[in-house]
Parts: sequence; C-alpha cells; structure tokens
Amino acid sequence: MAIRNIRLEGDEILYKKSREVDSIDDRIQILIDDMIETMHKFNGVGLAAVQVGILKRVIVIDLYDENGPIALINPRILKTKGEQEVEEGCLSFPNRFGKMIRPAEVVVEYLDREGKKKKLKAKELLAQAICHEVDHLEGEVFVNKVLPGTLEYVEPEEKGKTE
Ligand code: NI
Repeated sequence: MAIRNIRLEGDEILYKKSREVDSIDDRIQILIDDMIETMHKFNGVGLAAVQVGILKRVIVIDLYDENGPIALINPRILKTKGEQEVEEGCLSFPNRFGKMIRPAEVVVEYLDREGKKKKLKAKELLAQAICHEVDHLEGEVFVNKVLPGTLEYVEPEEKGKTE
C-alpha cells in the first residue's frame, strides 16, 4: 500500500469524466488499497480515483464508524429523495468549505471490490459523501455547487473531516 499524490485545484484532470471499470483486476485492488490509505492519511471521508490521477469510476468512503471503509466501483445513483443543507469540503480543495443542498437520501448501485453487484440506501453524511464522490467521476467539483457567498477558507487547525 502507498500514499498517492492528491491532485489539487487547478489540475485539469479534476474536470474530466472518469471511465467505467470493465475488469476488477489486481491494479484496481491496489488502487483501492492506496486510495483508502491516502484518504485516511488526510482524514477524508471520501476519495475518488480521479483525485489521485486515475480516470476510473472508483470511489472509497469511510465515515469512521463500525462499517469501515467501503469501495464502490462504477457507482450509479438510482434514486434520490428529499434535500439536506450540508457543509462540504474536498481533499482537492484544502481548507475550503461551503454550504450546499444535497439529496437527503440516495439509492446507489455499484460493484464491490469482489465484483458483486450491490445496492445501498444511504442518508445524511453517507448520502452526501456518495453524491460528492459521484460528482468527481463526472468531472464536477463542489466549489462550483456551493450556495452563493458560502465558500470559506478555514485555517488548517480548525479543519474537520473532508471529502
Ligand atoms: Ni472531493
């Protein structure tokens, strides 16, 4: 396992669309392990492969609860319900936070790292994290979605968990 470099604001790869994974091979397994390690190193709750320079539809999420880290390959949001106003950040935009409206609940279909098709119903922070990371796969970044006037720079020592 290895820590990978996180691509930061201004890097054009962050605005590109990621491609479907067609075979879950050893390289994908190594990528997932490295993404989890990198996310943990920087106290993130989520990371998309594009953020470490790989344009593949792979995301990892960890809410630091009893579920542990999960990897979602080729995630697809099937349904959304309701709204929640959330505070959001991103490891590719260090120390920047803003408010936005996300769905309150989502149903996401994906392949797990063994290649099994899974369906997950998520709410609150998990729903937010899934939406944020799936946006990355479309080349969308959170700073372009924040409610007007809410984007802030927060000093590093005050920083919380970020996606
Ligand atoms: Ni992000």
